[in-house]
Amino acid sequence: MSQYLAIDVGATGIKGAIIDVEKGQLQTERIKLATPKPATPDKIADTIDELVKQIGFEGTEIGIGFPAIIKNGLCLTASNIDDSWININIPKLIKNRSGLTVHVLNDADAAGIAEMTYGKGKGKKGTVIMLTLGSGIGSAFFKDGALLPNIELGRMYYRESVAEHYASNSARKTKDLSWEVYGKELNEFLEYTDRIFSPDLIIIGGGISKKFAKYSEYINPKLNVTPAEFQNNAGIIGAAMFAAQKIKNG
Ligand code: BGC
Repeated sequence: MSQYLAIDVGATGIKGAIIDVEKGQLQTERIKLATPKPATPDKIADTIDELVKQIGFEGTEIGIGFPAIIKNGLCLTASNIDDSWININIPKLIKNRSGLTVHVLNDADAAGIAEMTYGKGKGKKGTVIMLTLGSGIGSAFFKDGALLPNIELGRMYYRESVAEHYASNSARKTKDLSWEVYGKELNEFLEYTDRIFSPDLIIIGGGISKKFAKYSEYINPKLNVTPAEFQNNAGIIGAAMFAAQKIKNG
């Protein structure tokens, strides 16, 4: 079997599609439902249930990318979702609601897996950092293609709060920054990241990656920064790949 249902839970939308993990492609149209407010476990479980029904998935196992630190299915943080998620066992929650077996990982780690397998990170050795710039900043670290999970670059203390409050796409929108001001802001964060981790490649993902041309001139050319190949679909493709891997390994 090479087709898996995957879901990407985000601060504004919950997206899902059936993915062919051999090809790294969507097999069904991507369906997006609004993230409920407040984004509590019960409400999100209902939305996931609805999404699975709308997609018409008849299998029993799914992959989920979730915007938090995830260890063995447990949600350990809640910066962009409701605080009531902390310590929730996500596979248990979804099993009780929809009867599905869930394989869950951090959303940026999922996006990074897709990009390293089929996108700009394919075959790349050394240290590769994938950043998803959206409501927050997600990060995925790879060394010679192997993922080091749950690294939270966006939550790193930075100036007067944390990095995602300055360089995420929502910081740009909330502060109504021009592309020039935002580009310089992002560059400062990327230079800082480079100083600490010396990556060989930085891949910029999230919806804003398709607008790369608007801010790329403000990014230090000495940094090896490239926009992602997959924009908003990286998260679901990677979550499906993660589920496929888990099922294969038993
Ligand atoms: C969360 C990360 C997540 C990122 C992108 C951050 O606020 O702490 O876990 O990957 O947002 O959704």
